[in-house]
Parts: sequence; C-alpha cells; structure tokens
Amino acid sequence: MELEDINTVAVLGAGNMGHGIAEVAALAGYDVTMRDIKEEFVQNGYDQIEWSLGKLAEKDQISEDAADDALDRISPLVDVEEAVGDADVVIEAVPEKMDIKKEVYGEVEEHAPDRAIFATNTSSLSVTELSEVTDRPEQFCGMHFFNPPVRMQLVEVISGAHSSEETLEVVEELAESMDKTPVRVHKDEPGFIVNRILVPLMNEAAWLVHEGESTVAEVDSTTKFGMGLPMGTFELGDQVGNDVSYHVLEYMHEVLGDAYEPCPLLAEKVDEGHLGKKTGNGFYDYEDGPGAEIP
Ligand code: 3HC
Repeated sequence: MELEDINTVAVLGAGNMGHGIAEVAALAGYDVTMRDIKEEFVQNGYDQIEWSLGKLAEKDQISEDAADDALDRISPLVDVEEAVGDADVVIEAVPEKMDIKKEVYGEVEEHAPDRAIFATNTSSLSVTELSEVTDRPEQFCGMHFFNPPVRMQLVEVISGAHSSEETLEVVEELAESMDKTPVRVHKDEPGFIVNRILVPLMNEAAWLVHEGESTVAEVDSTTKFGMGLPMGTFELGDQVGNDVSYHVLEYMHEVLGDAYEPCPLLAEKVDEGHLGKKTGNGFYDYEDGPGAEIP
C-alpha cells in the first residue's frame, strides 16, 4: 500500500486517545470512522472532538470551515463491521489490556479488508504479540500518539518482529501527512522510548509522596520550575489518566523487573476511580482547575 491509497482511517476506541487520533486524521483530510462499544462512549468522544475543534478555531489555529469539514468527515459508530469494512488503515486505541486488545483484533480481522494496515496505539504492550493474533502480522505495527494528540508533535512508529519495512514506511508517511513527526522504535520493548522514560518518572514522584517525603504540589512545582517540563508530573498523570500509567507500569514490572514496581499511591487512585481529568478528579480536583494546588 502507498500513502496515496489511504482514504479511510478507522479508529477503534473513542476515549482520550481514540477521539484525539480521529480528530487529527479528520483534520488531515481522511474519512474517519470512530468506533466504541457503547453509544454513550462514541457520543462523548464526538462531543470532545467538537469542543477541541471549536477551541482551535476560536484561537485561529484552524478556520471555522476547516473545523466543520473535519467534524463532517467523522462517522461515530458502534458496529464494528461498519467501522472497519472499508478501512485502509485501522488504528486501535482501546484500553491498555492485552486480553481486551486481542479480543478486538479477533473481531476486526473478520471484517477489515485484506489491504488494511493495522496500527496499535498501545502505550507499552508487545506489538509482536498483538500482531500474532491477526493473519497479517507483516501489515501490523505500533503507531503511538501522545496526549493530547491534536497538540503533541510526536508519533512513535514501533516495529514488531514481523512488521514489514513497507508497512512501517507507509505509517511514517501517514503520521507526516497528519503533520506529526514520526520516530521509529526498532525494539518492541515495554514502554518503547517515551513511556520507558516518562512512566518511571511518574512512579518515582508517587513514591516520594507515598513515603511522606514531599507533597504532590511540591513535586509538581519542581518538575515545572526546575526541570522545565510543561506540566507537573502529577498534572500530567491526571492528563494521560492514572489508569493508563498504572497499566503501563504493571506491564513494565512484569516484563522488566522490580525496579518498575508500581507505587501503591497509583493503585489507590485507580481503585478509587480517581483517574484524572476524565473522571473530574485525580491528584487534583478539576472544579478549580489542575493548577489550583500548585504554589
Ligand atoms: N484541543 C484543543 N485545545 C486544547 C486541547 C485540545 N485537545 N487541550 C487543551 N487545549 C486548550 C486548553 O483548553 C487551553 O485553552 P484556554 O487557553 O482557552 O484555556 C489551551 O489549550 C492551553 O494551551 P496553552 O497553549 O496555553 O498551553 P500550553 O502551551 O501549555 O500547551 C500542552 C498545552 C500542549 C498540553 C502542554 O501543557 C504540554 O505539552 N503538556 C505535556 C503533555 C505531554 O507530555 N503529553 C504526553 C504524555 S505521555 C503520553 O501521552 C503517552 C501515553 O501512552 C501515556
């Protein structure tokens, strides 16, 4: 497949990453189907895209027409067959659990055309293992966007053990056509590059607070004002979802060893359902905005 052959992109999952990827693909001019398992999930993702496009237009980053056109290109769907039946590329962004992703690929394989490339937005899981549940492992790779996709420049393009060079090149070109900068990840290891560095940072921050050494606000102040990162570590955790970073850590712990043991404070947040911005609370309370506690 060549880049010119790609017209329709199916995005599976309408959560934080899924709806953001659908928005980016639609802004790049692709016809997009965005699928989730429940009507309310799809509607929520669609509403967030509408909000985001409105913000971009309000700030003159895109025109009102471009925002309307992008929204028109997105079909929100629950039916898998309809979502992937005419897809040239399927980008999967369902929850970060191996068994859920494998189940989804089983379903998608049945309905997607033979020509379609499968790209997973997994944050850390084995691309090779996922590719092996499909009958097209050579047409399969990682395409990892960052949160929020519409604002973040990077896309990691991850080579699984079976990914063909042709697939990797087309997916890199696809990322460029979406105005992103692809970086090839040659080794299919937990966390790839970004999360291998970033998620342990979030975990260390959590250990500091858990052990009573520092407060959330103190740690976030040092991250922002000392390390020059755009957000505090906990602010960022709330942005990506505390469940997402926790699942990445669990997997890194399982595969890479004890240095990656998840801090109980993160487990607590997940158990309490305090997942971050998406649930209205996490390490911060979003009624007052994420910066409210930062001195
Ligand atoms: N669409 C449109 N507008 C958005 C938006 C979106 N998705 N998200 C935020 N905005 C808006 C806000 O509402 C705000 O609007 P306002 O000014 O009207 O209140 C505005 O953008 C804020 O923009 P600013 O330009 O003032 O803010 P920044 O320049 O600080 O940019 C940022 C915001 C790009 C999110 C920046 O804070 C940043 O880079 N943060 C770090 C994000 C990051 O590291 N992401 C990667 C996480 S790791 C990951 O995703 C991997 C996964 O696998 C775990």
